[in-house]
Amino acid sequence: MLVEADTVPANRDSVDSLITGLKRIEFGSLPSSSVGALLQSARLDHADLRPYLDFDDIRYTRNLIFRNDHFELLALCWPLGSSSAVHDHGGKQAYMTVHSGSLTFEDFFIMTGGKREGYAQVAPAASGILTPGLVDVRSSDLDLHRVSAPNERAISLHVYAKPLDRYMVFNPETRSCRTVFAHYDSVPASPVLLSEPARSTP
Ligand SMILES: [Fe+2]
Repeated sequence: MLVEADTVPANRDSVDSLITGLKRIEFGSLPSSSVGALLQSARLDHADLRPYLDFDDIRYTRNLIFRNDHFELLALCWPLGSSSAVHDHGGKQAYMTVHSGSLTFEDFFIMTGGKREGYAQVAPAASGILTPGLVDVRSSDLDLHRVSAPNERAISLHVYAKPLDRYMVFNPETRSCRTVFAHYDSVPASPVLLSEPARSTP
């Protein structure tokens, strides 16, 4: 689902204010439009993100900005020519926006299997280009995609709620899928809250 960039409620111009805004969100079972609005309005410049950017020459990297029990915020660095596998999002809400450059997304759907490791047949669906100002939202195990940077290097921001610990990757050629445990290529030098007391229920 792509959200147009016309619902920007406020001007937030730093990583800290983005994190503060995300911490105020009560993540429920459905995707929150507030997350997309915050990502769209977070007009971060390159200097804001520089501490979190760690490019590899070949593959994309996952760089943690902030994490608590409710969500994580990452910067992904995509060198020219890099690509993800076809993947789901482990049943978590996944929000993505492009900070700089452009990314190609290719959607897939599961035709057969895919509920556990082993056989899975997937088929291509929609595809397109993600540029700054759009937010891509995924929230279903059936909502597969592959992201790549075929035209230029790119930086993207991602929010996962709850944090993404494991997910499935799919190989359309071998008609198979397997579990992958998410990792970080870098974590911030400053303290990151990895756990905090549970919120009181209203
Ligand atoms: Fe994804």
